[in-house]
Amino acid sequence: MAPKTNGIGIQVEDMRICVVMVGLPARGKSYIAQKAQRYLKWLSIPAKTFNVGNYRRNDAPQPSADFFDTNNAEGERKRRAAAEAAVADMLQWFKGGGVVGILDATNSTKERRKWVIDILEKKAIDVIFVESKCDDEDLIMANIRDVKTTSPDYKGQDPEKAAQDFRDRIRNYEKVYKSINADGDEDDLTYLKIMNVGKQVIINRIRDYLQSRIVYYLMNLHIRPRSVWLSRHGESMLNLEGRIGGDADLSPRGKEYARKLPELVLESVGSDRPLTVWTSTLKRTIATARHLPQHYNQLQWKALDELDAGVCDGMTYQEIADMYPEDFQARDEDKYNYRYRGGESYRDVVIRLEPIIMELERSEDILIISHQAVIRCIYAYFMQKTQEESPWVPVPLHTLMKLTPRAYGTEVQTYKANIKAVSTWRGKGSTAKHEDPSPEGGV
Ligand code: ATP
Ligand code: F6P
Repeated sequence: MAPKTNGIGIQVEDMRICVVMVGLPARGKSYIAQKAQRYLKWLSIPAKTFNVGNYRRNDAPQPSADFFDTNNAEGERKRRAAAEAAVADMLQWFKGGGVVGILDATNSTKERRKWVIDILEKKAIDVIFVESKCDDEDLIMANIRDVKTTSPDYKGQDPEKAAQDFRDRIRNYEKVYKSINADGDEDDLTYLKIMNVGKQVIINRIRDYLQSRIVYYLMNLHIRPRSVWLSRHGESMLNLEGRIGGDADLSPRGKEYARKLPELVLESVGSDRPLTVWTSTLKRTIATARHLPQHYNQLQWKALDELDAGVCDGMTYQEIADMYPEDFQARDEDKYNYRYRGGESYRDVVIRLEPIIMELERSEDILIISHQAVIRCIYAYFMQKTQEESPWVPVPLHTLMKLTPRAYGTEVQTYKANIKAVSTWRGKGSTAKHEDPSPEGGV
């Protein structure tokens, strides 16, 4: 059997890692856990988050703060049972081929961490602790207001009372909380400690490549408000002919889109704050960025070039179906994995986009002008599209998309330039040159 590899090209056979979150409530643990899961799944690494709060809610759906007091025996019993149930499910999931399990709970005492390690090490699962430590009271209050008062724990309750109760809950945790290795006796643990949203990080005993990728990704996360704008290049001369790939100039309507883009961007940004613009190295994306304001920094990335269609570059879908019928069918059957002869698959594109995603996470407002397949892959990262869905997502020409990351998801807005363009979307089984994107599930 061929070794199982993941998106970053390393063998994941027999590899099992548990990321154990640590920290007081409202420190962004679930946020970090979710992002790690999304990033890993996008790279084809089976990852799953086990949120102990969800298990606890089965037994204690709306507990008040005193439930979390360690002197509350009933509360302690139920919390312990919830942690055990989450870990048991995670172990089952590892048996079925899971690679990175994320245990999302406070794990805020040494005893709890030792309990987790003892169970996981017996099963030969590597453990990385990821602690979020934050003493910025204003940020914690904002977190409580943003996500905690609307949590199922407080459904139907007055938000002010909910916020007060949540603060009391935190006080109960603070009584027993011990930051990792605060006493110097957890030095043998593998951990990443993120202080005040990355202002300072401590890394201890990180071992293999996958662990360091996860740690590097988490170190780069920030929560400053920002958006990412995505646009395809304006319509190209080859688009007009229904030919794929190539390095063509813009069509007259494509040039019109380039002229309209600054206005569209301004409308969508809502102010004249500058964006950084990333294009591919191909003529059509560079020409599309041409009229953007001079004070926008522009950068060309080879990694943003369109999916390489190899021997099919410059052909129409009909020509490909005629000349390489088996390939054409194979692509429809598994478009994500199909690699053009001498070219690339969507999976290959995701691998080369990994540095782009890493850089995007570190950055503030970025406008990316790229190509159909590349934008689908970036969109899939933000919108958690599956490998079956992502290669078919309609990304029409002459449309600007604004993605705004929120606490638990990404908000999408689209801005149409109202400049006609051919559709380059092709439905399964068809060779149509121009097709209208399906109305559902589109961008
Ligand atoms: P709980 O223990 O109650 O489950 P939690 O630690 O999991 O709390 P989240 O639900 O993840 O907290 O809180 C989400 C909020 O935390 C979001 O508003 C997000 O912007 C913010 N956040 C994300 N990362 C961090 C961080 N490193 N430090 C502090 N806040 C963060
Ligand atoms: O047709 C425009 C284009 O960007 C081509 O250059 C590229 O091969 C194609 O879209 C990717 O879309 P699909 O994967 O649906 O063929």
